[in-house]
Amino acid sequence: MKFGYFDDTRKEYVITSPKTPLPWINYLGSESFFSLVSNTCGGYSFYKDAKLLRLTRYRYNNVPYDSNGHYYYIKDGDTIWNPGWMPSKTELDTYCCRHGLGYSVFEASKNGLSAVLTDFVPVGASCEVNKLTLTNMSKGLKEIDLFSYVEFCLWNAMDDMTNFQRNFSTGEVEVHGSEIYHKTEYRERRNHYAVFAVNAPIDGFDTDRDTFLGAYGENSAPAVVVNGKSGDSVASGWAPVGSHHLKITLQPGESRDLIFVLGYVENKPEEKWVGLNQINRAPALALLEKFNTVEKADAALAELASYWENLLSHFSVSSEEKKLDRMVNIWHQYQCMVTFNMSRSASYFESGIGRGMGFRDSCQDLLGFVHLIPDRARERILDIAATQFEDGSAYHQYQPLTKKGNADIGSGFNDDPLWLIAATATYIKETGDYTILDERTPYDNDDSKATDFMEHLRRSFLYTVTHLGSHKLPLIGRADWNDCLNLNCFSEEPGESFQTFGPSEGPVAESIFIAGMFVRYGKDYVTICRHRGLEEEAVEAEKAIAAMEKAVIEAGWDGEWFMRAYDAHGDKVGSKDCEEGKIFIEPQGFCVMAEIGKDQGLCQKSMESVEKYLDTKYGIVLLQPCYTKYHVELGEITSYPGGYKENAGIFCHNNPWISIAETVIGRGDRAWQVYTRTCPAYLEEISEVHRTEPYVYSQMIAGKDAPNFGEAKNSWLTGTAAWTFLNVSQFILGIRPDYDGLMIDPCIPKNLKGFEVARTFRGIDYHIEVLNPEHVEKGIAKLIVDGKEVSGNTIPFDSNMVGKSVHVTAVMG
Ligand code: GLC
Ligand code: GLC
Repeated sequence: MKFGYFDDTRKEYVITSPKTPLPWINYLGSESFFSLVSNTCGGYSFYKDAKLLRLTRYRYNNVPYDSNGHYYYIKDGDTIWNPGWMPSKTELDTYCCRHGLGYSVFEASKNGLSAVLTDFVPVGASCEVNKLTLTNMSKGLKEIDLFSYVEFCLWNAMDDMTNFQRNFSTGEVEVHGSEIYHKTEYRERRNHYAVFAVNAPIDGFDTDRDTFLGAYGENSAPAVVVNGKSGDSVASGWAPVGSHHLKITLQPGESRDLIFVLGYVENKPEEKWVGLNQINRAPALALLEKFNTVEKADAALAELASYWENLLSHFSVSSEEKKLDRMVNIWHQYQCMVTFNMSRSASYFESGIGRGMGFRDSCQDLLGFVHLIPDRARERILDIAATQFEDGSAYHQYQPLTKKGNADIGSGFNDDPLWLIAATATYIKETGDYTILDERTPYDNDDSKATDFMEHLRRSFLYTVTHLGSHKLPLIGRADWNDCLNLNCFSEEPGESFQTFGPSEGPVAESIFIAGMFVRYGKDYVTICRHRGLEEEAVEAEKAIAAMEKAVIEAGWDGEWFMRAYDAHGDKVGSKDCEEGKIFIEPQGFCVMAEIGKDQGLCQKSMESVEKYLDTKYGIVLLQPCYTKYHVELGEITSYPGGYKENAGIFCHNNPWISIAETVIGRGDRAWQVYTRTCPAYLEEISEVHRTEPYVYSQMIAGKDAPNFGEAKNSWLTGTAAWTFLNVSQFILGIRPDYDGLMIDPCIPKNLKGFEVARTFRGIDYHIEVLNPEHVEKGIAKLIVDGKEVSGNTIPFDSNMVGKSVHVTAVMG
């Protein structure tokens, strides 16, 4: 069952019923100001950091779902309705929500009145613009009352939700004409406030929630809206809100446009005031000025469209497979941008207060993002590296606003350092920019401890070399990629966090996953060393990598697949000898991507075992058989009921690892099958089962052991975004940036006749035509670049071609 459809021409998903199984959301903003908006106008805004600078309040885990948003109430006679259906839930005559790139449009009508609401965050401005067009489609006169409504958050979202003895007394506002200012804590240490305004004179306003809603009132029918009259209330303490009242008269056929703006404004400390407790509104007025007419708002919307047009032009595919084109050209890249911006902090499943930016998460997000805006990728890499410790280990998370490591979580995740090498290698392959290696970069944000960035990579690499266990495999620390495989923690008390409880180190437990990572990304480290002329170091690194491969083959191969780990007692994890959890997905993906034991046939065997033991119709589960008991020596992974999350869920993030691994051994049909099974557009028809948005990935789909097999959870912010784009663009379609040029190495289903890709790479526009006349899965028989045949499958980078177009024909065979 579907709840909408893809409009590929407009690059939108059009939702045709407000009653989606879960809120289906969109992200507005791509620089500093962000809003989340659902298909029923739920959501909230923040500036840079969802925890520390939240503008509007959202109620997580509320009933009904998705409570609080930026709402517009229309009172037409006795009928009260909203363009996004919520919160009045009045049945609409027509409804649709178009989620597009950085904007959402709600088109609704009721009793002959139509409302079109367009929400977006303009490029280069710290605000959300809501353009509302009301049209009288009836034959009679319409006299309606319109009320806007936002509920302000008192900035720190955590404090806002918990510290009521303080924050019921701190709320302050100021109202000037049609502008409502939220200035809580501005009198003391904050130099910022929010403004909510409309570009027309108003007939009333409210800033006090109790006045607006009424005693025991609800969002669905606020007292002020029911009575058709604002209270002109000025909030003092309690819960400040922003609501405008406009009386609107429309002749038959007449339309009226209104532009509402919710903005974030900062003042210099010495320019905060213009009088006693009178805020300096000048920067707010300047902001509002930019969008105060329909023409200006439309121009900003057009600018946003060209911003996205330009970003998405760096990579596009055209093939006979419509869903592939749609996902690659629009939604995969869009999701990559959003996860780059948010990491795992703010979605409808991540409250924005728990986690800042993850070290490993952000590094992986770069893999899918770097071709979009390389400069921001560079900045991000250096920000992440600045939270590293001097021994190469790292804070697991950091706050985006302060860019400082998050001491509550601490460190000890022993895969973290290697992800920095992965991100950097990807950046250098994309840009050819080795100067990043010379950047002075602090440790633990302490400038006095800075070294060049190359030294950070060295310490990342050496961290693994110097933390090996008795099998010469990497010590796992608190956990590796799988946060829930906690081999050193031994938690027995309810409520203890597996992420922080117990020792983060242990001298025994080893990870074969980290071993695979080390071999794969170690090879990049070697290349980078050679490029800097560090031949001796490169040779030493190669020796360490060879030793690791040997250790994996000797102590990490289980006969049919790669084992997962050794626990703190030295017992096997992910082996046929285990009662439960005999085989795990992660080491199969990474050891095969690293080509460990490829010549001996281990890679082939490992992939066959994945297919045999882990495959389901909805994707590959993380492990089998699922854990049915709590194992104190394994930790959180055994805390989840079977089929959920890391305990045998279909963790979407590592499905692309298998797809990539399949391309390593040349199985294009299987790589494609793995790709499409979890790909949202291919699941659109079963939206009632899948439940989350059919245009983006979710973290997890319930595995075959779960009663709700096939049901996805935790959409939007997942490493799947980057890994999928990497997989499909670089390994399936095979257009792969390398250190010295652009490699063409497709691995596709044999019935695909070919495809075309437009790829901007280091300033050159490549038009690549891949033909598959022999119906093979992999292999390039002929590569023709601008009419000349080139040997091998890499187009060497030629700086003379920057700014020009290059035509490439690649014939598979
Ligand atoms: C979550 C985390 C990620 C982790 C994964 C597996 O997605 O964000 O860091 O690797 O779970 O536990
Ligand atoms: C839980 C989740 C895991 C996530 C971790 C960090 O352990 O199961 O996916 O990575 O929390 O917040």
